[in-house]
Amino acid sequence: QTRITTRRLQEMRASRTPIACLTAYDAGFAAVLDAAGVDVVLVGDSLGMVVQGLETTVPVTLEHMIYHTSLAARGTRRALLMADMPFMSYASPEQALANAARLIQEGGAQMVKLEGDGAQEAVVASLSRHGIPVCAHLGLRPQYIHKLGGYRVQGRDSHAAERMIHDAVALQNAGADLLLLECVPALLAAEIRGMVDIPVIGIGAGVECDGQILVLQDVLGMTARPPRFTKDFLAEAGSIRGAVEAYVSAVRERRFPGPEHGFSA
Ligand code: KIV
Ligand code: NA
Repeated sequence: QTRITTRRLQEMRASRTPIACLTAYDAGFAAVLDAAGVDVVLVGDSLGMVVQGLETTVPVTLEHMIYHTSLAARGTRRALLMADMPFMSYASPEQALANAARLIQEGGAQMVKLEGDGAQEAVVASLSRHGIPVCAHLGLRPQYIHKLGGYRVQGRDSHAAERMIHDAVALQNAGADLLLLECVPALLAAEIRGMVDIPVIGIGAGVECDGQILVLQDVLGMTARPPRFTKDFLAEAGSIRGAVEAYVSAVRERRFPGPEHGFSA
């Protein structure tokens, strides 16, 4: 079984085969996801909330990310392993390069993700030039929570929408291999997808994206007050393995997300 590569993700976009992504933070769950056909396993800094019991992702450190990435790496063979760059670990191109290198070399990730807008163009360009695949996370960026003052849908007014489109194109041109859109109106996400050539992965961004991602704990019904864009797949499936398989088929067949999981403009 060969591993999913950035090239394979490009082919999936070209053939309109939806890319199924989920988070995992340890070897055991990563192995379940890998066996169930999840294409991209993300070691998200959401681990701060769902594993460490923190209120936000802001306190998560690079050492935490390297540790959990190294665990998840032992559970994956086929899935592409993506690791989040935590808060303040990519404030300059030099710092980003050193920290991303550790996630790749010590953690075993094949791609890093950062919450970037136009301001992160130089960071993305530098990582890309050095052979580090990058996913740029736009829309709702939880690392900005203290600045945003709440988790809510992004890009609703035309100025913000224009800016997001501009940033998406700029980050692609800087060398990003993947875009992730979180909590973006479905129409805007579809528009952004049409403006770029790289695969667009959505969470709360409608069914037109090239792929979908959710936090594993939400899929397994563990979250007390789950966001509207998630779905508990365990309730029907009855087992963890079954829930992950049900999620993968629902994404592949574009049965998930439904309109009720998304946001209108
Ligand atoms: O940290 C995370 O789990 C994420 C996903 C929600 C996209 O960034
Ligand atoms: Na994250």
